[in-house]
Amino acid sequence: MKAVLCEQLGSPQDLVIRDIDSRTPGAGEVKVALKARGVSYVDVLLIAGQYQVKRELPFIPGSEAAGVVTEVGAGVESVQPGDRVLTPGGFAEEAVVDASDVTPLPDSVRFTTGAAFKSNYTTAYYGLQRGRLKAGEILLIHGAAGGVGLAAVDMGKLFGATVIATASTEDKLAVCKQMGADHVINYTEGFREQVKDLTGGRGADVIYDPVGGDIFDESMRCIAPYGRILIIGFTSGRPALAKTNHLLIKDAEAIGFTIGALSRHDPAWAQRNFEHLMGWLSSGRISPYVSHELPLEQAAEALQLITDRQVIGKAVLV
Ligand SMILES: NC(=O)c1ccc[n+]([C@@H]2O[C@H](COP(=O)([O-])OP(=O)(O)OC[C@H]3O[C@@H](n4cnc5c(N)ncnc54)[C@H](OP(=O)(O)O)[C@@H]3O)[C@@H](O)[C@H]2O)c1
Repeated sequence: MKAVLCEQLGSPQDLVIRDIDSRTPGAGEVKVALKARGVSYVDVLLIAGQYQVKRELPFIPGSEAAGVVTEVGAGVESVQPGDRVLTPGGFAEEAVVDASDVTPLPDSVRFTTGAAFKSNYTTAYYGLQRGRLKAGEILLIHGAAGGVGLAAVDMGKLFGATVIATASTEDKLAVCKQMGADHVINYTEGFREQVKDLTGGRGADVIYDPVGGDIFDESMRCIAPYGRILIIGFTSGRPALAKTNHLLIKDAEAIGFTIGALSRHDPAWAQRNFEHLMGWLSSGRISPYVSHELPLEQAAEALQLITDRQVIGKAVLV
């Protein structure tokens, strides 16, 4: 089968495409013919060796996909060949995984949408729970047209919040509006004053920050009393050094989390959240946004689009 391989750490252009042996599923495993694979910023970090988790070389980048079960190993009864599923899986034609790791994908959901869904929406959902977001509160989302950002716009509206979305271009802001944001701000020229104006001087109750650096610092100047700022990532390239005096003056909290830790530390919570999300996805109450669909062979181009800040929502390899 065809697979994209990271044989040496580096840039997207260092990836190679190879034909590798197809594996027969063992007991408890299933083989899935992948139809769509999600591409994310984390993949850019992983192939550069800059992610907190390191993978042994060579490896197939990518972690989430959607496809059709083609074979099942001994003892598997939960799925059968022909079933549409969400599955862990990378930039390859197929994946062999534990049967317990695949989830039925409803007929109403396209493979592309399914592949764009899990990591972004589980992160956004858990983040807003950690931020104790309540209906009627003001939610400020940075990098709101990115993967985890746009999912938070969608989820924030489901929680009943008033959503203020920031992004760097008018095209990105237009998609944030389309996804339900109540207000949008181009944060390349700052956002503190606009957030204050939009909130009658009070600031945002919950700030969702995948960007870090200067954006975090400015956020502390427009956080509401008893506000919560969520530390999600550092796409700006710099974690902020939070000034604790700002937290003290505002009675505010800075909350860090990783979605991977939730699955390890509280798998029941992670599973419950995923089931809620699957329900909302099936009924169309949430709708992942995909700006780019590219063939598998163009994995390097897809990763480069992410590096160049061109992707809105998610890029998917089909
Ligand atoms: N904590 C967790 O559990 C968790 C889970 C998933 C991802 N993450 C992290 O969340 C962050 C965002 O991931 P994502 O998948 O949403 O990424 P993404 O789709 O690439 O979006 C990131 C956004 O960051 C903004 N950005 C600002 N400065 C940037 C820069 N110098 N380079 C690139 N983008 C920049 C971009 O928006 P503008 O152009 O509008 O500024 C972009 O849309 C990453 O750091 C990732 O590791 C954390």
